[in-house]
Amino acid sequence: LNHLGPQTSSVGGIERQFTSAAASSNVKVAVLGAAGGIGQPLALLLKGSPLISELSLYDIVGTEGVGADLSHIDSSPKVSSYTGAEELPEALYGSSLVVIPAGVPRKPGMTRDDLFNINAGIVRDLCVAIAKYCPDAWVAIISNPVNSTVPIAAEVFKKAGTYNPRKLLGVTKLDVLRANTFVAQAIGVPPERMSVPVIGGHAGVTILPLLSQATPRVDVSPETAKALTERIQDAGTEVVKAKAGKGSATLSMAYAAAKFAESCLRALAGEPIVECAYVESHLTDLPFFASRVRLGRNGVEEYLPLGRFNELEAANFEALKGELRGSIKKGVDFVNKT
Ligand code: NAD
Ligand code: LMR
Repeated sequence: LNHLGPQTSSVGGIERQFTSAAASSNVKVAVLGAAGGIGQPLALLLKGSPLISELSLYDIVGTEGVGADLSHIDSSPKVSSYTGAEELPEALYGSSLVVIPAGVPRKPGMTRDDLFNINAGIVRDLCVAIAKYCPDAWVAIISNPVNSTVPIAAEVFKKAGTYNPRKLLGVTKLDVLRANTFVAQAIGVPPERMSVPVIGGHAGVTILPLLSQATPRVDVSPETAKALTERIQDAGTEVVKAKAGKGSATLSMAYAAAKFAESCLRALAGEPIVECAYVESHLTDLPFFASRVRLGRNGVEEYLPLGRFNELEAANFEALKGELRGSIKKGVDFVNKT
C-alpha cells in the first residue's frame, strides 16, 4: 500500500520494497464484514496491495456485489466473495490474516460498550470458525468494543486449543492516526512526520496518548496537552455526532486498518515493524493492554517498554485501569458463561 503514504513504523529507519515477490506468494487476506461501512473501503484499499494474492470478502449480506465491483480493478489480488455462515469456512480456509470489522456501529448517545450485546456474539462466532478453518492466521479485530472483543477472541481460541497471543491484535491504529493529526496541527508540522504512541485501550479514557514520547518533540503547555489528549480520547464520538445517526468512522478506519494490515503482511514477510496494538500483555497488571509492539514473522515479537510518563499521563494511566479491567472481564465472562 505504498500509495497510502509513507510507512512510518519500520524499525531503525529500514525501509524495504515489497512488491512482486509478495504478490506472487500465497497470501490470502480475509475481511469479515466486508460489505459494511468499513469493510468496503478497506477491501478497496487492500485490492490495491501488492502484498496480497487473494482477497476473501465475507459478510452476511451484500458481499457478491462488492466483490464483483472490486474484481474489475486491474490489480493483482484475486477477489473472492462469500455470503452467510455456510460459506464462511471457504472464506477463511488458507488465510494468513483475518481482519474483522463485522458488527454494529454506534449512534449518537451510545458508548462503545453499548454495542457489546450484539457484537460480542458476532465476534465469538466468527472466532469459532477461525479456530476451525484457519487456526494459524493472524487476527486483527476492529469490531467494538475492542477492549472486550479481543479478550472474547482470546477465550474462544483458548477453548479451541489454537490460541496464540502473539497473533491476536486489537486494531487501535485509528487512535494513532488521530493523535498524529491533531498534535501535528497544534505544533505546526506535517502530519506525515508526526508519530505519537497511543497506549491503553480503545474507548474514552482508556485511550492514552503519550505526547511526551512523540516525535518530533511536542513542547506545549499542560493545558494544551490536556485538551489534545481529550480530543484524541473523544475523537470517535466527534465522528459519531457529525454522522448524526448514520454510524461511526468508516473511511479513516478503513485507511487505518489497511495500513495496519500492510504492517502485518510486511512483518509476516520478515520485516520488523513497530505498531501500536491492543494485545495480551504483561507490561502492566492488566491482562490486555495496547502498547507499541514489534511485529515479525511470528506475530508480536517484542512488547516495547511503556517509557516514562509525565504527570498528566501518569494520572490518566491510573484513571483508565478500572474501566479497562472491567471491559476485559466482561469479555472473558461472556465466553465462559455461554
Ligand atoms: P456497518 O454496519 O456499516 O458494517 C458492519 C458489517 O458487518 C455489515 O455489512 C454487516 O452485514 C456485517 N455483519 C454483521 N454481522 C455479521 C456477521 N455475523 N458476520 C459477518 N459480517 C457481519 O458498521 P461499520 O461502520 O463498518 O463498523 C463496524 C464495526 O467497527 C463497529 O462495531 C464499529 O464500532 C467498529 N469500529 C471500530 C473502530 C476501531 O478503531 N477499532 C473504528 C470504527 C468502527
Ligand atoms: C472510533 O474510534 O471511531 C470507533 O471506535 C467507532 C466509535 O464508535 O467511535
